[in-house]
This record gives sequence, C-alpha cells and structure tokens, in this order.
Amino acid sequence: MCGIVGYIGNQDAGGILLTGLSNLEYRGYDSAGIALQNADGVHVFKEKGRIAALRKIVDPDVHATLGIGHTRWATHGEPNRRNAHPHQSASGRFTIVHNGVIDNYNLLKKQYLTGVAFHSDTDTEVIVQLIEHFVNDGMGVEEALRKTLKRAEGSYAIALLDRENDDTLYVAKNKSPLLIGLGDGFNVVASDATAMIQQTKQYVELMDEEIVALTRDGYTIKDLDGHRKTRSPYTVSFDARDTEKGAYPHYMLKEIDEQPAVLRRLLQKYEDKNGTLAIDPAIARAISEADRLYIVACGTSYHAGLVGKELIERIAQVPTEVHISSEFSYNTPLLSKNPLFIFISQSGETADSRSVLVKVKKMGHPTLTLTNVEGSTLCREADYKMLLHAGPEIAVASTKAYTAQIAVLAFIAIAAAEKKKIKLDFDPIHELSLVAQAMERMIDQKALLKEIARRYLSVTRNAFYIGRGIDYYVCQEAALKLKEVSYIQAEGFAGGELKHGTIALIEDGTPVLAFATQENVNNSIRSNVQEVSTRGAYTCIISMEGVTDKPGDQIVLPKVHRFLTPLVCAIPLQLIAYYAALQNECDVDKPRNLAKSVTVE
Ligand code: F6R
Repeated sequence: MCGIVGYIGNQDAGGILLTGLSNLEYRGYDSAGIALQNADGVHVFKEKGRIAALRKIVDPDVHATLGIGHTRWATHGEPNRRNAHPHQSASGRFTIVHNGVIDNYNLLKKQYLTGVAFHSDTDTEVIVQLIEHFVNDGMGVEEALRKTLKRAEGSYAIALLDRENDDTLYVAKNKSPLLIGLGDGFNVVASDATAMIQQTKQYVELMDEEIVALTRDGYTIKDLDGHRKTRSPYTVSFDARDTEKGAYPHYMLKEIDEQPAVLRRLLQKYEDKNGTLAIDPAIARAISEADRLYIVACGTSYHAGLVGKELIERIAQVPTEVHISSEFSYNTPLLSKNPLFIFISQSGETADSRSVLVKVKKMGHPTLTLTNVEGSTLCREADYKMLLHAGPEIAVASTKAYTAQIAVLAFIAIAAAEKKKIKLDFDPIHELSLVAQAMERMIDQKALLKEIARRYLSVTRNAFYIGRGIDYYVCQEAALKLKEVSYIQAEGFAGGELKHGTIALIEDGTPVLAFATQENVNNSIRSNVQEVSTRGAYTCIISMEGVTDKPGDQIVLPKVHRFLTPLVCAIPLQLIAYYAALQNECDVDKPRNLAKSVTVE
C-alpha cells in the first residue's frame, strides 16, 4: 500500500528514484511522484497512473543528488494528480511522501491549521503543513517533526525534504514499513529492500516511532523524545536479478514456474544433517506445549492456513483453528488455555494481521510468524519465525508464496507429529520431492491449461470451483486467483453445499471446475458435478492419476500423497487464472484496485 523511496548521495537522484519506484510499483499504482532538491530549490513531478506516465513528465534537465519518490494506493482523496505525492507545505519549504493513514488528520487541521490553504484532500498534507507550522513557531526541523509525529495518530512511513538543508533527508515510521539502505557515499530510503536492490544490499530496520536524519555518509536514529538509538545493518539474501522478469512476459508466470525450485530450496533449508525434516527445536517445543493452534492470516495466506489446519490436525492431531485477521480483532473466538498463534504473511507487513499480533502479545500468548520477508514487522515482532524462502514475489497475485506457506505448514505438522511420537505413514522428504516433480509436469502442460481457460472462461462473467475436504480449500484459492487477475466473478464451494442454495445460479453454460484429488470423496464430488451438469453447467474435472481419475477427465494431475495434493493443484489453478486474465486483456501483474502489501487496516 504505497511505496516510498529516497536518495541522498552524489549521483543523479531522478533516475535512481524512478527505478526504485518501478521496483515498488506492486505496492500501489494509482499515481506516482518524485521531488528533486538542488541549488535551485525543490522540483516536484507527479502524475496520475503508473510510473511510466510519471517518467514522461520528469524534466531530464533537472539534476539533483537528493530526492524522494512515492507510488500511491489511494486511501484519502481520489487517485488523481492533485492527491498524488509528494505534498508540500504552504511556503514550499517542506516536501513529504507518506505511506499510511493519519486517523486524526481532521482534528489536527482544525486545531493547528485554520487559515492554511490546502492543495489536496489527503491526510498527508496535514503532516507537512504541521511541521511548517511548528517551524514557523520557532522550532528546529527535527523538533518540529517530533512534535508533529507525537500528535499524529495512525500509521506512517515518511520521507521529508527541507529546502533549506541540502544535506539531510528526514525519515520516520510508525506501523508502516520503512528501511534505510547504506551505500558508499550515499544512503537510500525504501519501503522494502527490493526497491533499492540495484543500489545496495545493506539495510537498517527502523522501529515504530523512530526518526532518522540521513546524510550522504551517515545516519542518526532517534526516538520521538530525541534519544539516540543504535542498530546494526543486515545484508539481504537476494540480489537485483531475483527481482527481474527476465524473458518472462509477466512476473506472475515467472513466479508460477519457480514453484518446484522453491519447494526444493525449502527442503534443503529445513533438512537436518540426518536427512530428516527439522524445525527450530524451540518452535517444536512451543507447538507441543500448546493445546490449540490459532492460524491468523488474510487472502491467499488465509487459504494456505486452511490447508495447514487440515495437515496439522490429520498428521499431528493438534487442534487448529484458522481465522481471518481483519475479523479476529472484534470477532475474537473463545481461546483455549495454552494457545499458540501462527501468523502467515508473505509480506510480513499486513496491517490486519499485525494488529492481531499486537493484541495477542499483550494477552501474553506465544506467537510464530511464517513469512517470506526476513526483517519484516510480523517477523520481528513474533516470538518465533519461519521463513518461506520463496525469493521476492513481485506479482500482486500471490503464487509461489502460497505453495511455500503450505510446504512450511506441512513441515510444522510433521515436526509436531514427531514430537508426539506419532508414526508417519509416509517419508516426507521423498513425498515432497515427488510433489516438486509433479509441479514441473503440470507447468509443462501450459498449452492444455491455456486451452481450458479458452474453452471454459473466455465468454463468461462468472465461474465456480467445487471440491470436498482439502480440495474445497484449494477451490477457495482457485476462485480468489481467478477473480483477482481476470475479474471473472468466481466462487469456491464445498461440493455438497451447492444444492443448499447456490445451485440456483447454475444455468446453461455456467463453468463449474471441480477438483477431485481425494479418493474418499471421489464419488461424492463426481455426483455434484453430475447435478450441475444436468442443469446445464459446463463442467471440467481436475483429478489425480491412479487415484481418482476416470476416462474423459479434462485435467489429470500426477499422483502425490493425499495430504500434499494442494501443492500440485496450485499450478493449474494459477495458470488457468493467468490465461483467463490474458484473454480478458487484464493487467496480470497489477490487477485493478489492488496492492501487494496491505499496510492499512
Ligand atoms: C492474493 C493475495 C492477497 C494476500 C493478502 C495477504 O493473491 O496476494 O490475498 O495473500 O493480502 O498478504 P500477506 O500474505 O502479505 O499478509
């Protein structure tokens, strides 16, 4: 949700900021802007739409070695040029970019800024005007910034330019993500490390309510009371190549193809010296001490959690509940005596999940985060962490993180079973290696999946996925993927539930795609397919070789262990969504209205 970059150094800031914004565009793409500061003053360029539109209006003759940039996912104020960041104070002395929401901006406006002319409808402009207000009252810039932020309620990651100081870039954060990156003779600011990976691999995390004064060769971190803080930098484990599309037309396709490699990498990372799967003993202990696990997540991560529940309960016999983060805060279930909370988040920054983390930590419960981003807020703030090792996921629609999440949840289930001395009826590493091969075989069937998308989804406005048991959870993800990238109204239903109402929507030609990978429900799901087919539905069965397949099934998946089928189902569901999106001429990597990292509640 909005991306921020900043640069202070000796090179031309404009190009660096635009590249950084392009890398961050998945966080929001309603509008974008940069501000460049040089001896002539501060030059602001902003435009509605994508970074490509911004590039066209940036004056190539403006050169500066200090600047900030922003790509927006609108919260307050329409997504237009007027509301695009950066925003400036009344005199133009201060220029700001902001990610987050200032909840009390109206109150601050009334309290301090009557008579000030505003040039946007944003909450952000209030911050920059307030800083100038306090400076006009005689405060130094840092003091004014601290005072402003102490009064601002909500979330913010900001970068601020002061026209009267060419040697400092101010940044601050609360709840919204922000990193500073360190270089030789330059320093940068970024919402995440992928933005500035071409510049540096060395980053310093910022904590909530910290302010940094960044110069060309140093940085000072302080809290809102002005006390100095020290923190060592860390090196990110990926490089610029990992964030590039290469020969692929879309990141989504690249990331789908990467899944077998991600699974093999995960097996390596979590395999111990004896060749068995192992998780951190402290995490295994925490799981064994819990009487119930509570998985908390949003969207695709929530869907991975549903599969995880099935695996943990079946393999390790540990009671597990799965909750949507945004519901949990006020719809809190009755908790068991010794719960362990598991947060699943690709980005590690999702605000809804974080607010649950803060809440349950206050209640004193242990917490574990599964995330793809080391150093992210949810990763830092939980008691334990497990990394997904999927590499940067750039496409807005999550693909490889979903399968990595399921794999790590399977590792948890296996470790918990071992701790409880439950004997497994399968060799996990062998079975997961077979899954990687099965994924590859499905990836090789792109032509078939493209044809399925053409046959079933080219002229329709809606579609249904149905399944039973673990396949039902897969259907929920299949429907989400299809609707978010192709804009086809899609729902994932439990096969047996259709006749309790939804079957009323079936008419001639309605596409119904059924996952049928589980032997114990094969007959029942096929009956459900018959029921809709009789009523005119255009049906497609996705079954599993040697387990549930029958002649005439449209897609037959290679055989894998019955607990691990969702990992293989992921490939056709993702590729069908991808090809349906292409057919509908949708912007696959950046679907409308979405942003990758949802940092507002
Ligand atoms: C869908 C998708 C979203 C995310 C959700 C949670 O393709 O990507 O539904 O899964 O916004 O994000 P994370 O996992 O970063 O917490």
